[in-house]
Amino acid sequence: MANEPDNLDLPEQPGANVWERAATGLRNYWYPVCGSRDVKTRWPSRFTRLGYEIAIVRRNGKPYAFLDECPHRGYTLSDGKYEFPGSDTITCRLHGMTFDLADRGNCVAVLTDGPDSPAVGKFRLRTFPAEERKGVVWVWFGRGAPAPLEEDVPGLVLQDDTLVKFRFRTVEGNWRNHSTQDAGHFPTLHRDAIGLLFSQIQGYAVAREPDYARDPYDGAVWLVQRNSSHQPIMQAEYPGLGVWPPKRLWRKMPRGGGTVPLKGVDSRGGAFRLPGILRVINFPFKAGMLYEWYVAEDADHYTYFQLTCHFPRNPLSWLYTQAWYYLWGRPMRKIRFNNQDRKPVAAQWRYWKRHGANPPTRLYRPDEFNLAIIDHVNRNARGESSAWQEAEAERRAALALEALPSIAGGSDDEPQA
Ligand code: FES
Ligand SMILES: [Fe+2]
Repeated sequence: MANEPDNLDLPEQPGANVWERAATGLRNYWYPVCGSRDVKTRWPSRFTRLGYEIAIVRRNGKPYAFLDECPHRGYTLSDGKYEFPGSDTITCRLHGMTFDLADRGNCVAVLTDGPDSPAVGKFRLRTFPAEERKGVVWVWFGRGAPAPLEEDVPGLVLQDDTLVKFRFRTVEGNWRNHSTQDAGHFPTLHRDAIGLLFSQIQGYAVAREPDYARDPYDGAVWLVQRNSSHQPIMQAEYPGLGVWPPKRLWRKMPRGGGTVPLKGVDSRGGAFRLPGILRVINFPFKAGMLYEWYVAEDADHYTYFQLTCHFPRNPLSWLYTQAWYYLWGRPMRKIRFNNQDRKPVAAQWRYWKRHGANPPTRLYRPDEFNLAIIDHVNRNARGESSAWQEAEAERRAALALEALPSIAGGSDDEPQA
């Protein structure tokens, strides 16, 4: 599986630490790329992810991902042909170089150079490990042998009785801008969402300190907004200005969603996990669990991959779930509500490019969670050099900065993802 020649790595991005260098995403993780139904046998499908142009094709039932670039003269293999049905090969349309996708992309024939072509065995198409689970095609972007898929896909998603629904689309902006959409934007940006029109929404919340918690299904580390200190304030007097938010008679529905534990996961607000996954419980409606991935395409675009888990217990509740999903959850929450984040994410990225950066600030207290996300990425991103991590530890010690809380449950392990 270790099939990545080093010279095909992307050039290092500039930046002082892992976060700053990660304009095109964090390497060494599995990412959701598309749905099973997007992968065909006859024609490869083409995607841009983590700065790579890749193609995915199906051979003998299995998806194969590879760089969309023929190693001979660079023609796109997404235009390649299936000249030898039944094999695991793809043939470049330009000169007929044929690669065995099941054998690390080795060149096994060159059709326009005859069966004795000396190029056979000398060229290799760059392939990416790919797996298909729950109707999603997951691809490993990294050096060397991949980590087990189960380390990167939340365990609840992979459970046999979990009903998974997902959608994805390309969005303008950098993946880091969406990953650090602050905890404070909800009461203002989303207040007028049709999907929340009848819900009570707080004006603000105090002291949502970050904490670590292990995923009950797979043991991975989530950075969570701590429950115990979540105190929503529904209305407040702003000196010299008046009361905000205004009371609305039609906002009757209690703030249920985020506060009710689900499937053993007790978390209010969002929770973040490497390499850029947000978890929200009871979304897009009660008893649903949202996981959303921000997968860099290039520095200016990312794939917003929304995946929700549902847990119908019998045919009747399956029907009920489907109805809620297609009539309400998907159109009003996953699409309309979540689309409200598009403009701010794109605007923040443009601001970042104009001014150099737009880091979260300690002066704005809800940013604390985002600062913790950045710190978590810098300290724990898989396979990154520890040089910055050590320097950062020294810097924190020197400045006597408050360390992040340790993992809930009292383990003294450093969090790893
Ligand atoms: S460019 Fe692909 S075979 Fe020549
Ligand atoms: Fe949002």
